[in-house]
Amino acid sequence: MTLTDAYSNGILSKEIPTELGRLQALERMLDPVAHEALDSLCPAPDWECLDMGAGAGSIAYWLAERCPSGRVVAADIDPRHIDAERAAPLEVAAMDLTVEDFPGNSFDLVHTRAMLAHLPQRDELVRKAASWVRPGGHLVVGEFYILPLDDAHPALRTGVRTLAQLMGGQGTDVYWARRIPALLKEIGLTGIQVRLTPLTIGIGDPVDEFWRRSFEQYLPILRRRGAVSRATLDELTKMLDDSSAADLCWFFVTASGRAPEPPAATS
Ligand SMILES: C[S@@+](CC[C@H](N)C(=O)[O-])C[C@H]1O[C@@H](n2cnc3c(N)ncnc32)[C@H](O)[C@@H]1O
Repeated sequence: MTLTDAYSNGILSKEIPTELGRLQALERMLDPVAHEALDSLCPAPDWECLDMGAGAGSIAYWLAERCPSGRVVAADIDPRHIDAERAAPLEVAAMDLTVEDFPGNSFDLVHTRAMLAHLPQRDELVRKAASWVRPGGHLVVGEFYILPLDDAHPALRTGVRTLAQLMGGQGTDVYWARRIPALLKEIGLTGIQVRLTPLTIGIGDPVDEFWRRSFEQYLPILRRRGAVSRATLDELTKMLDDSSAADLCWFFVTASGRAPEPPAATS
């Protein structure tokens, strides 16, 4: 059984009618964080940009506004929700980024968010992404990091642990985000910056909306596939209704680095 072969027939498949709304809730939760990180790089109007795993498209649209005389490639294995007509510099590319490639030094900025943890080729893909960045250009990688669960609010512990186990069992690494800064350094990027955004469940939207939409999508699938015990399912359902539970469950890690520029020639 494949639950988190997420992007074809798993719990994150775009065939599921609620997935678009869930992706848009993710955008409402995380776009302010991405905007701040990307703004700090001062994108120029003529930059050429790539958004890897562009999802419902909000970051590609934002980049297209910032770079009207450049080029913004929104690449996704299933780009059905991205509107290529939305802005002139936008190009939509249906591609499996683990297999397909761009020429080296193609972009001034490569961004990816909430995709790599699910892909077993995550480290290799970050290396590939770095090779697509021109000297002096930027790579920005964002991913969830689930905090240790032993101290979690009891009403949330089972839910978060079950999710981490189900996804972990299928190749997702919910702890990978911790390694991103080291990976950027190992690849040779410079000026590495890291932002941590706390995601606190039970305090209010937009995080609660994303959490609720995610579990409302996952639960019937888990039930149908017999993936977790009835007792666990009951606990997960109870968790969604327990408005008293509040906890700091995740950080969102946004790390960026620059591709090194060749040393200036000396005369
Ligand atoms: C959780 S969504 C995140 C979407 C978007 N980056 C965001 O943060 O709003 C992950 C996206 O990655 C895409 N994706 C997954 N595997 C991919 C692959 N191998 N190549 C290209 N896109 C992929 C999915 O189709 C999905 O749209």
